[in-house]
Amino acid sequence: MSELAGKAALITGGSRGIGAAVARRLAREGADVAFTYVSAAGEAKAADVVADIKEIGRRALAIRADAADDGAVADAVRRTADEFGRLDILVNNAGIFTNGPIEDVTPEEVDRTLAIHVRSVFLASQTAVGFLPRGGRIISIGSNLADHVPFPGITLYAMSKAALSGFTRGLARELGPRGITANVVHPGSTDTDMNPADGPGANTRRDLTALGRYLDPDDVAATVAFLAGPGGHNITGTALTVDAGTNA
Ligand SMILES: NC(=O)c1ccc[n+]([C@@H]2O[C@H](COP(=O)([O-])OP(=O)(O)OC[C@H]3O[C@@H](n4cnc5c(N)ncnc54)[C@H](OP(=O)(O)O)[C@@H]3O)[C@@H](O)[C@H]2O)c1
Repeated sequence: MSELAGKAALITGGSRGIGAAVARRLAREGADVAFTYVSAAGEAKAADVVADIKEIGRRALAIRADAADDGAVADAVRRTADEFGRLDILVNNAGIFTNGPIEDVTPEEVDRTLAIHVRSVFLASQTAVGFLPRGGRIISIGSNLADHVPFPGITLYAMSKAALSGFTRGLARELGPRGITANVVHPGSTDTDMNPADGPGANTRRDLTALGRYLDPDDVAATVAFLAGPGGHNITGTALTVDAGTNA
């Protein structure tokens, strides 16, 4: 597979879960791959992802950068372009999950969720626009909860992910004349540390799907790879839901 040969990508939150699957997949498609992570615990996982990308034969760069830190986000974009000499693909993936009744959500949780899911996506994309060539791609990872909320207690998360739909449509209009596409992928329940397929409540979420199963992170990565590749060149301003039919 070499649909992305000669390209360079940055994925936010690439040490684990969906972001790590995207990092490995884009490398297999031929791209050099940088990714961010935030925690000390993420360090070892980040090293594993770097080793895998190098094993595939691509260049890899792990950057510890908190998505809630404006400067760190912009620096990560610039460092990627500097290190690889270009930037073709930005995948806004870093995310957290805060849930609970609305009365229990603190202002700090509101600020941090919006900083990571919304503000950093805007700022990373804004910085990336200075580097992306014609054919460039901005792909954000939202959630099927942006469109349909089947349970109480996830209002903040749903609000933050819904913001990406409007962001993506606006960006598509702005960047279309420059030959750059912008899309959002809305995954459903995906087996990661955030939402383990054997965790509490997993069976209830599985029962909501049409196909009766959780997604594997590689399923989401395949959709991102398609949008990033030549097949995605006429897809922009769109939300692609990959949720085993939960929102059907
Ligand atoms: N799993 C699902 O069911 C599901 C469904 C729909 C949408 N999503 C979305 O998909 C994305 C990835 O989720 P996931 O399930 O793969 O989560 P995950 O397994 O918890 O992994 C989260 C990743 O994001 C990084 N991260 C978290 N906060 C960050 C910050 N402030 N700055 C930089 N990196 C940060 C983590 O880095 P560290 O390793 O350093 O902590 C890790 O690499 C998120 O946007 C999530 O909302 C997930």
